[in-house]
Amino acid sequence: MNLKIAVLKGDGIGPEIVDSALEVLQTIASKYGINYELKEGLIGGIAIDKTGNPLPEDTIETCKNSDAVFLGAVGGPKWDNLPTHQKPEKGLLGIRKALDLYANLRPAKVFDALIDSSPLKNEIVKGTDLMVVRELSADVYYGEPRGIKTLENGERYGFNTMSYKESEIKRVVKKAFEIAKIRRKKLTSVDKANVLEVSGLWRDIVNKEHKNYPDIELEHLYVDNCAMQLVNRPASFDTIVTGNIFGDILSDEAGVVQGSLGMLPSASLGDRYALYEPIHGSAPDIAGKGIANPIATILSLAMMFKYTFKRDDISQNIEDAVDMALLEGARTADIYRDAGFKVGTKEMTNVIIKNL
Ligand code: IPM
Ligand code: MG
Repeated sequence: MNLKIAVLKGDGIGPEIVDSALEVLQTIASKYGINYELKEGLIGGIAIDKTGNPLPEDTIETCKNSDAVFLGAVGGPKWDNLPTHQKPEKGLLGIRKALDLYANLRPAKVFDALIDSSPLKNEIVKGTDLMVVRELSADVYYGEPRGIKTLENGERYGFNTMSYKESEIKRVVKKAFEIAKIRRKKLTSVDKANVLEVSGLWRDIVNKEHKNYPDIELEHLYVDNCAMQLVNRPASFDTIVTGNIFGDILSDEAGVVQGSLGMLPSASLGDRYALYEPIHGSAPDIAGKGIANPIATILSLAMMFKYTFKRDDISQNIEDAVDMALLEGARTADIYRDAGFKVGTKEMTNVIIKNL
């Protein structure tokens, strides 16, 4: 195996946590006899500082010439006052669009060792193991028209457009059924079909696609109800499929149910390219202190082995090593309660590597 990986470390804690995951990668490579090549690219605030553009053209090229893209995080207070189209976040949205990454997989699984980190009662969260499949290429994020106008009476008026083409819904829904099929065979589709036309179309396509997957149990929930059920009965969910904006919100909620955003990896898949990144942001307040939790990023590497390199064995090896580190009691500050021992980014990485 010779893997070509584009590495976009980004801002804040991005570089630290990506470096941790790359150490894990190095250990995996020597253990399994894998060759790999890394090529770094700029994205986000650092790219703005160095080139004036949150997503320079050669970063896109680097990504397109790789088997997979590995990303840290973007953004920080330094760039918060830039106009929306020049912000670091635009780099992230830009790369998702440039690579046509339409299915964002965000698993939220409760680690037994961390069950006390959840703000919910143990008996409610116990056994939670769900996967949010969030559409990533369309919706109100990219819909036109958008902007801010001044009306004739001088009042300002802001507008964005929630829109989906049939084909955009169909491809992500198909992917979600496929994922549900290899999980526990239950799919929850989330929309706002009681109010929105876009959602009516969404629901219709989900129902049609269901005919190709008769063995999957399908449930439809309105997004507000789903938000409620996620804290009422999180363990009852298996695979959830929804649009870009609802998925953005629900995946954060699923994350907090599980315990810590610092634990949650993600994969963004298209038909040709794939990008892997932790769900959490760049955490500028703790950047450079060596205390960030590298687990979400290390688990994103595990997802890379599963979905791009089709090596379930390696993916499982990494996940097991993380489980073991947690069972041994290693805790970064964000997941430290009373038990276990507090570690920084490097020590956590070392405990995980030792367990590979
Ligand atoms: C996420 C983030 C991004 C999003 C932001 C940073 C643009 O919240 O990946 O969930 O809204 O998609
Ligand atoms: Mg988000």
